[in-house]
Amino acid sequence: MSGLTPPDLGSPDAPFAPLPDPRPPLAGPRSAEVVVVGGGIVGATTALQLAERGFEVVLLEAHRIAGGTSGRSTGKVTSQHGPIYSQLDQRHGRDTAHFYASRNEAAVHTIAGLVDRYDIDCSLEPVATHLHALTSRGAAQLEREATVARSLGLPASLTDDAPVPDAVTAALRFDDQRQLDPRAYVAGLAAAAEGHGAVVHERTPVRKLRPRRGGVNVHTDAGVVAAGHVVLAMLTPWPDLVGAFARAHPSRAVCVAAELSGAVPTDPSLGVDGPSRSTRRYVTDAGTELLILLTSGWRPGANDERDTLRELADEATHRWGATRITHHWGAMDQVSADLLPMVGGAPGTSHILLATGFSKWGLTGGTVAADLLAARIAGDRVRTPFDAARLPDLRGLAKMTAAGARVGYELVRDRIPRPGVRGGVDQVVGTPGEGRVIATATGPVAVCTDADGVTCALSATCTHLGCTVRWNAAAGAWDCACHGSRFAPDGQVLAGPATTPLSPRDLPGR
Ligand code: FES
Repeated sequence: MSGLTPPDLGSPDAPFAPLPDPRPPLAGPRSAEVVVVGGGIVGATTALQLAERGFEVVLLEAHRIAGGTSGRSTGKVTSQHGPIYSQLDQRHGRDTAHFYASRNEAAVHTIAGLVDRYDIDCSLEPVATHLHALTSRGAAQLEREATVARSLGLPASLTDDAPVPDAVTAALRFDDQRQLDPRAYVAGLAAAAEGHGAVVHERTPVRKLRPRRGGVNVHTDAGVVAAGHVVLAMLTPWPDLVGAFARAHPSRAVCVAAELSGAVPTDPSLGVDGPSRSTRRYVTDAGTELLILLTSGWRPGANDERDTLRELADEATHRWGATRITHHWGAMDQVSADLLPMVGGAPGTSHILLATGFSKWGLTGGTVAADLLAARIAGDRVRTPFDAARLPDLRGLAKMTAAGARVGYELVRDRIPRPGVRGGVDQVVGTPGEGRVIATATGPVAVCTDADGVTCALSATCTHLGCTVRWNAAAGAWDCACHGSRFAPDGQVLAGPATTPLSPRDLPGR
């Protein structure tokens, strides 16, 4: 079910290329040198890299290749990840900042090279990316960022112009970057991996992993895949071998795409002050230029995304001159507490590797991760500050503590029965797109009515670790704020780390 948003917000999906025909699910037990779990940017790139090296690879995707966060990104391919380099330099030192910069800058060109080598039709175009400031404080921040970025060898230059309709106080430009259709790119990577002998199965959720001598047994509904290595390339990898649930937090963001009365600027930009907006141009197959306008992120369920989409649409209209909102959509990401992604394995689990925590910069970050994972499986020794088993810095620890407190709150929220239960249910029943959590004497109950007018009542207790889910009316789904699981109105798992559906309950007060 998609969410119930007004028709003037356009189609509830990104404007990118449609997904190709689905591959068949896994049909029975088998073996593979490497099983990659997850068909986003990390999974598809890792599968391709390993298949190119001659490994026998099976990629298992629970839903559709490129159907998750990777295919819902804005498609910016850049080493400019917000004003991150001055922060990395300050918090982690010059060597780590340099590793991050050089690897992500190299990933821009790796991606361009893969598009070229495999002739991936994904609307790749060269751009200069920008950060822009609207205040003197923001301008000072960009000056500091420019100094550090240039010292790290990045193609950075300060300018007083940015591709936005506002008067900016400063802008920081990175040359020789790219933008593309992320859905078509990731689908193209998976097809390229198949061309090298990798086997891809969609609609094949992994149920559990069981280490065995020399490898790991990957359990699915169709049987066990005996793997030498497993790469957990889901947005939120599980089992949590490295404490990633505490070291990263889920973050939602929403986009609109719009036709403008004038030309759409070719180059993307991101504001560092004022309302943080990210923009890029996307040209459809029919040649229509669209502006994509993206918000910064928030904890799932922290606000009503319908209101945020409405604000974005108003902004597109009044600030950018939009004549029509054509699309709207949202995506979840995992934001790392210490700014660095987690890539690798845990001590004692050399056969299971993972990557997460790209903090919304997964196209290049995921490409870097795939490179590191493939190298590790191939036996290359690479020292990396992204090591998943590292300890976070002090600020990261403070963020983890705050995140832990938040999880604690989510565990008890809505568990205390309150008056008005009957009224809460009455407002949901028969109102398509409405949902809410009702506190009852036997625990919180998630009640929603889908687009067809069917009302479902479910346990509101997330089947991952027990937090209470929240209704996301714009997406038509139940979100869990603790680690980012998502459930359909009928309780089926749309995104992990949960693997078990929400169980049916009686409608409260009826
Ligand atoms: Fe972890 Fe819900 S408790 S995702």
